Amino acid sequence: MDKKLELLHAKREQAMQGGGAQRIESQHKKGKLTARERLHFLLDEGSFQEIGMLVTHRSVDFGMEKEKYPGDGVITGYGTVNGRLVYVFSQDFTVFGGSLSETHAEKICKVMDLALKNGAPVIGLNDSGGARIQEGVVSLGGYADIFYRNTMASGVIPQISAIMGPCAGGAVYSPAITDFILMVEHTSYMFVTGPNVVKTVTHEVVTSEELGGAHTHATKSGVTHFACPNEIAAIQHIKQLLSYMPQNCEDKAPSLPYEPGDELRPALNSLLPPAPSTPYDIREVIEQVIDQDSFFEVHKDFAENLVIGFARLAGRSIGIVANQPAFLAGVLDIHSSTKGARFVRFCDCFNIPLLVFEDVPGFLPGTDQEWNAIITNGAKLLYAFCEATVPRVTVITRKAYGGAYDVMNSKHIGADMNFAWPSAEIAVMGAKGAAEIIFKREISHADDHEGKWQEMEQLYADTFANPYRAAERGFIDEVIEPAETRAKLISAFKMLENKVANNPRKKHGNIPL
Ligand code: HXC
Repeated sequence: MDKKLELLHAKREQAMQGGGAQRIESQHKKGKLTARERLHFLLDEGSFQEIGMLVTHRSVDFGMEKEKYPGDGVITGYGTVNGRLVYVFSQDFTVFGGSLSETHAEKICKVMDLALKNGAPVIGLNDSGGARIQEGVVSLGGYADIFYRNTMASGVIPQISAIMGPCAGGAVYSPAITDFILMVEHTSYMFVTGPNVVKTVTHEVVTSEELGGAHTHATKSGVTHFACPNEIAAIQHIKQLLSYMPQNCEDKAPSLPYEPGDELRPALNSLLPPAPSTPYDIREVIEQVIDQDSFFEVHKDFAENLVIGFARLAGRSIGIVANQPAFLAGVLDIHSSTKGARFVRFCDCFNIPLLVFEDVPGFLPGTDQEWNAIITNGAKLLYAFCEATVPRVTVITRKAYGGAYDVMNSKHIGADMNFAWPSAEIAVMGAKGAAEIIFKREISHADDHEGKWQEMEQLYADTFANPYRAAERGFIDEVIEPAETRAKLISAFKMLENKVANNPRKKHGNIPL
């Protein structure tokens, strides 16, 4: 047995070395951790159980049979994060640049299959040169096997992708199908075609960082949900993200203990600016309402006219979707609609109740929006809310105009409890524009056009720029003092805790894409 143990230990030791000391040093020089170091920081101490440590590739072309590394460029297995089971794969750039061979893909698929059968999240730490060039089509097949599993697991178990290095070509589509992407500033990038191909085809000269770095994807494309300053910060983000989620779609998110007694928030009564068109930061409202320091914003720097994120209310996990009057007056546009829709759908998949704060003047007008399909994209948010069966509560703080009133979790599309502050304005459009249309004749016949217009504007505002017409109809369940908001929401979500709602049986819906 001693000799056999020696052999086992030698094999394990070789696997621990990845692509060797020199390549590990080069990885560190780039400011990157190794695949094993990342897992060390992610998982609870001593919890990692590796699967497939001794797997090697089967390639024989280009002298590959002579170059084999146990593990074949990806470390896979399971462990716990804050005591909860997760499945992981961590690509090892020191072995063939973390490139994906047939066996490398099989290892990833194996943990994904286990995760799906056992109902626990999958976390992928990506750092790869893409398809293993020496293997050709079997590598492409390996990617497709992963994409297929990503899709089958979607909505069943949470899937999180951290991009810790290159991620190029079709390889980007696995992260894209997963629920959340995190990127590391300056050391990671994602693109379908790199700067060289871009230069050849479109003659644009662009660096990898500009084309597909963390900042680009966090602000311009919205591909990444988080841009983290370094790998440790990215790993912390993954842990925090997991803390708001259940293990799978049949499970409820974990709750934290909660001591009642702090529900009244008088500061909210004076938070809105006196003039209805003056901006304010909706995050101030969110912070007042939720449990202290529990807001975890998602997609912070993308489509800032809509704020989304996880929080806790009386210890329970909720998803927040809020118009942001401090950015573009909080209008809905293409990016904010898709951002909101995807988040609503995530929360609905995983039984996370939704809280909506509404202060929206409408949809953004203009050729850019119309020609790029605000109709189809705005419909995504509408569709996402309509089909969501989790507990849903809305608070209208100020404006709720036009189609945006319907879209933002209105009673009519299935919201369970709709509150409005006395400052709410719920109408088809703003008073100025409305007066111009419906009192056109009176205004044009008046000696003092401007004076008449103002008078009619005031009439429309007095009639509709309040929450009471909607409350009379029951479209608003209660007009509340802002200071009471936290107490009302805690009570509403508690009341809705055991909500059961089922949509009509179908194969799947056809969300406008
Ligand atoms: C095999 C690869 C590899 C790959 C890198 N390596 N990419 N081996 N297949 N795809 C190896 C290198 O030979 C090198 O081996 C080691 O990894 C590190 O690579 P370097 O080039 O030295 O590192 P760096 O300078 O940091 O550059 C990283 C890189 C570059 C930008 C990722 O390696 C690169 O451009 N690789 C090719 C990327 C690519 O075109 N991949 C295919 C994309 S298409 P040694 O022995 O020297 O350490 C694709 C299709 C997916 O992925 C389709 C899915 C549908």
